[in-house]
Amino acid sequence: MIAKHISQRGFATSSKSNVHVTVLGATGGIGQPLAMLLKQNPLVTRVNCYDIRGAPGVAADLSHINTPSVAEGFGPDNNGLEKALKGSEIVLIPAGVPRKPGMTRDDLFNTNASIVRDLSKAVAEYCPKAFVGIISNPVNSTVPISAEVLKKAGVYDPKRLAGVTSLDVVRASTFVAGLANKDPKDVNVTVVGGHSGVTIVPLLSQQKDGAAIVQEGGQKLADLVKRIQFGGDEVVKAKDGAGSATLSMAYAAAVFADALMRAKSGESGVTTPAFVESPLFKDQGVDYFASQVTFDKNGVSKIHDLGKLDASEQKLVDACLPELKKNIEKGVQFVAQN
Ligand code: NAD
Ligand code: LMR
Repeated sequence: MIAKHISQRGFATSSKSNVHVTVLGATGGIGQPLAMLLKQNPLVTRVNCYDIRGAPGVAADLSHINTPSVAEGFGPDNNGLEKALKGSEIVLIPAGVPRKPGMTRDDLFNTNASIVRDLSKAVAEYCPKAFVGIISNPVNSTVPISAEVLKKAGVYDPKRLAGVTSLDVVRASTFVAGLANKDPKDVNVTVVGGHSGVTIVPLLSQQKDGAAIVQEGGQKLADLVKRIQFGGDEVVKAKDGAGSATLSMAYAAAVFADALMRAKSGESGVTTPAFVESPLFKDQGVDYFASQVTFDKNGVSKIHDLGKLDASEQKLVDACLPELKKNIEKGVQFVAQN
C-alpha cells in the first residue's frame, strides 16, 4: 500500500537499474526514514547506512523489510566510512545538527561546515565518481564547501554535486494545492534560488493555480510567499526544540534520489529543481543557484533558465541574490581557511 502510494507520487515502478546508495547521517531524523524509502525503491540494490552512532542497528532493522535491496550499516570504526562509500553511485548527506527555535540555518554553520567538509573528503577518496546530494544545512554554504573539498582533491565535477532543495518544491506545491483545493499530486510549483528565507523563490506565476493567486495579489499572495520561504520555521516551532523537518525532508530527498536513478537508468528528460553550480547568475558573482535541472546518466545535463517572471518574482530574485552570494562566499572561505 505504502509502495503503491509512493509510486503514484513519482517513484519509479520498474527496475531497470542497479544503484548503490549511501546515506551519511543515517541514524538521524532524516537519515532513518530516507534510508527506509530508499529500501523500498525498486531502482536501489544496496542502501549503505553510515553514522557516528547507531547505523548498524538502523540497517539491521531495514534489512527485515521484504524488498530485494540489501541494507548494511557502518560506524566510524574498522574503516566504516570507507566501506560505506566504496562502490557507491549516489551519496546523500543529511549528517549534522538541525535548528532549534530562534536559530537561522546559518547558525548551524559552525558545526555542520566541518562535518560536510570531512565527509566530502571521504567521498573524494572512496567514491569520487558518485553523485553527491547535500541535505545538511545551511545548504547555501555546505554545497560550496563540498565543491571546494572535491576541487582540492582534483575530483570535482559540477555535474555530480547538488544541494537538495526539493523540500521547497514539495512544500510550495502542498501549500498552493491547499489554497486551490486541488490534489497536491496535480500541482507542481517550481522553486528557485537557494534554501533559506529570502533566497527561496517560488515561481508561482508559472503554475496555473499559483498564477491565479499571483493575479489576485494582496495579502493572500504575500502570506503564501512568506509561508514557502519560512516553511521550515513552522516545523522547527512545532517540534519545540526537538529538531526540524525530518519526514517531509526524507520524502523530498527520496523523490530527488529517485529522479537521479531514473535518469541513470536511461529515462530521458528527468527534470527537477536542484541547487547546483550554475551559469545563470555567475555574472553577478553567484556561482550556485537552484533552478530546474535536467539529469542524465552522468548527472546534470541541462540547467534551465528561469523562464518568464512576473514583477513580484523578479523582486524576489533581486532580494535573493546578495544573500545567496554571501552564503556561498562563506562556504568557499571556510575551506580556504580550514
Ligand atoms: P539529526 O540530529 O536527527 O540527525 C543528524 C545525524 O547526523 C545524527 O544521527 C548524527 O549522529 C549524524 N552525524 C553527525 N555528525 C556526523 C558525521 N561526522 N558523520 C556521520 N554522521 C554524523 O538531524 P536531522 O533532523 O536529520 O537533520 C540533519 C541536517 O539536515 C540538519 O543540518 C538540518 O538542518 C538539515 N535539513 C535540511 C533540509 C533541506 O531542505 N536541505 C531539510 C531538513 C533538515
Ligand atoms: C527545512 O526547510 O525544513 C530545513 O531546512 C530545516 C530547517 O532548518 O528549517
